Amino acid sequence: RLADLKGLKRGRFRLGVITTAKYFAPEILGAFCEAYPGIDVSLKVSNRHRVIERMSNHEDDLYIFGEPDTIGLPVEATYLAPNPLIIVARADHPLVGASNIPLERIVQERFILREPGSGVRDTITRLFGEHGLKPNVRMELGSNEAIKHAIIAGLGISILSLHSLNLDAGAGRLSMLNVAGFPIQRDWYLVHPKGRELSLIARTFLAFAVEHQVNIQETLARTHAALCQSGPCN
Ligand code: PGA
Repeated sequence: RLADLKGLKRGRFRLGVITTAKYFAPEILGAFCEAYPGIDVSLKVSNRHRVIERMSNHEDDLYIFGEPDTIGLPVEATYLAPNPLIIVARADHPLVGASNIPLERIVQERFILREPGSGVRDTITRLFGEHGLKPNVRMELGSNEAIKHAIIAGLGISILSLHSLNLDAGAGRLSMLNVAGFPIQRDWYLVHPKGRELSLIARTFLAFAVEHQVNIQETLARTHAALCQSGPCN
């Protein structure tokens, strides 16, 4: 036990997360650093394909991403929190307030798509494909932030993680469209390669993050409520 405490006094912890988790990972890391002040932490944010590549190269101690069983590598995965994907439009878009909008209507809109390698892009492309539809892609952008700016600039609509709106939801410039089949329910998992023993620090962080998942869910609920003030929401 004493040895355990010693192991947590000083050390390094590297966390690699997909872009949608960057809206919450700093909060968890901040609380973790407060509880264990001697530990140096680093956070690497990249898209799904890059995070999986980092995991294959053992570049970090632990990862946060979704659908851990579809990556073709044996991993250990612990459920962390929901990651709902929603359709976002500028607040003055004519479809804001409409109910149960069919996906067929969405493809008539100009669409902003994430870069190749993005998990959200893969999910969206699969979803439209399953319906025999293709989004009317106006532009591709490599970040959720850039996409939010592009939506506000009137360049089109997009699909984003609800988490990506947690600081903007109250600002009133973006709205969630009520589209049939949405939100798409994705989830975040804490992941590491199977058979690779976690350090004491990584194990402690894992338990700490799971304990803090209630904060993630509360923030998500607040973001949802703020976005839904103007009409029917998914
Ligand atoms: P992305 O990851 O940043 O690669 O789109 C998000 C996700 O997979 O849900």
